Amino acid sequence: MCPASLDEVAGVAKISSSVGPKIPQVVLLFGATGDLSRRKLLPGLFHLASAGFLPASRIIGVSLDEIDAQAFRDLARSALEEFSPRALTEDAWQAFAASLDYVPMGKGAKALKAAVARAEGDLGGDCERLHYLSVPPSAALPAVRLLGDAGLVPRSRIVMEKPFGVDLQSAVQLNRQLHQVFSEDQIFRIDHFLGKEPAQNILAFRFANGLFEPIWNRNFIDHVQIDVPETLGLGRRSGFYETVGAYRDMVVTHLFQILAFMAMEPPTALEPGPISEEKNKVFRSMLPLDPKDVVRGQYIGYRSEAGVDPESDTETFIALKCLIDNWRWAGVPFFLRTGKKLAEGQRIISIAFREPPKSMFPVGSGIGAQGPDHLTFDLADASKMSLSFYGKRPGPGMRLDKLSLQFAMHDTGLLGDVLEAYERLILDAMRGDHTLFNTAEGIERLWEVSIPLLDGPPPVRLYQPGSWGPKSIHQLVAPHAWRLPFERAWRDPNPLGA
Ligand code: BG6
Repeated sequence: MCPASLDEVAGVAKISSSVGPKIPQVVLLFGATGDLSRRKLLPGLFHLASAGFLPASRIIGVSLDEIDAQAFRDLARSALEEFSPRALTEDAWQAFAASLDYVPMGKGAKALKAAVARAEGDLGGDCERLHYLSVPPSAALPAVRLLGDAGLVPRSRIVMEKPFGVDLQSAVQLNRQLHQVFSEDQIFRIDHFLGKEPAQNILAFRFANGLFEPIWNRNFIDHVQIDVPETLGLGRRSGFYETVGAYRDMVVTHLFQILAFMAMEPPTALEPGPISEEKNKVFRSMLPLDPKDVVRGQYIGYRSEAGVDPESDTETFIALKCLIDNWRWAGVPFFLRTGKKLAEGQRIISIAFREPPKSMFPVGSGIGAQGPDHLTFDLADASKMSLSFYGKRPGPGMRLDKLSLQFAMHDTGLLGDVLEAYERLILDAMRGDHTLFNTAEGIERLWEVSIPLLDGPPPVRLYQPGSWGPKSIHQLVAPHAWRLPFERAWRDPNPLGA
């Protein structure tokens, strides 16, 4: 028999369960042996359980691998050792291990149903079910059908990983077939970027302050960049990635969601309905992507990786210009970029303000020499913000330098309270809170604006690993310039290493 809650065993401070679900949870984790599960979901569930966010829980791994529960526990243990950012105590691990079970997908509905019945029997009393589908788009429907056949729909919620479908038609079909089994209020279409603390901070920054909202529009903002270069390669994921590519993996999902938070009108309340409505209005105003405004790249060496077609046309890099044709943003380009094996790993939103007339400053003063004023958000968990502006260099005459005001979350002393994005969203799904999840309408609209690109993608251009992508990215943003790499480094928020 397992302990009622892992914190009793782990001996860690019990966190008020007011933020967590009230009812014991049985989690069915599809894709349990996969990369996301090992990197994020198992470590995240471990933290939620051991820190007392969950009242009590059982986790049943499901995947194509024909392994048993002990092998799954071993896999979970090595995943925690490799990827958990927090120390693993033996007591906490033992309690977590006792909550793990495993069913190979091939064993079918009966075995799944029996495992859930066992878990619910252990937990006793009322339980809720969270089905987490960490599987590629092609495996989503078979898993949904299996859950239906196993009779596991009542008292359940289902989390659908991205990408949700691979184009408009498949997303519409997936939504339709999903609705034959689950009702909309049971469905949580996850995008983990929205679970990142700094993404939610965009809403706080914009709508809790009087300073910036009046200038948050085409009259003051020249252009916006959402730039998420990654140094990571594909590791064990090349087989999956080969069928998806950078646009479906990152842009139609994460980058467009961040764009929506950045560009939306103030919602009437911070609640799921009003927030989704404002985000969906942004998506409705987006112009269909023009392939001429897109650069697709592929790093040299990708085609010789395991699971990759030697003549693959899949992009591992994409940069594009996107336009939102509404009163707030008409004519303001949004430049988006992301890719694998690039020079730096960063996640930034950079907002460039319009420049003033500079005629009063003498030639050679340096005015405008370092680009326009910028507001920059760093979307790392240890998030940062910076506002850059020109100021006078001390001394005689009028020389101007680019200066900045910077804020780092580190300064609040509360960095330890940040929940990792998946942890936050799993908790929200268990509580039935849809605020940070996507709607069918929003996703379908994003696939709709993608049609010209998906139908007529520009050719992939090769780039060197460790570079910033194909050379043509500079033409894409001209006459502007990419903000990364930064000319000036962020201030170190922790110079003494405290
Ligand atoms: C995932 C993508 O959704 O997001 C990965 O599938 C990508 O390819 C990852 O590396 C980036 O997320 P994060 O949180 O590490 O910035």
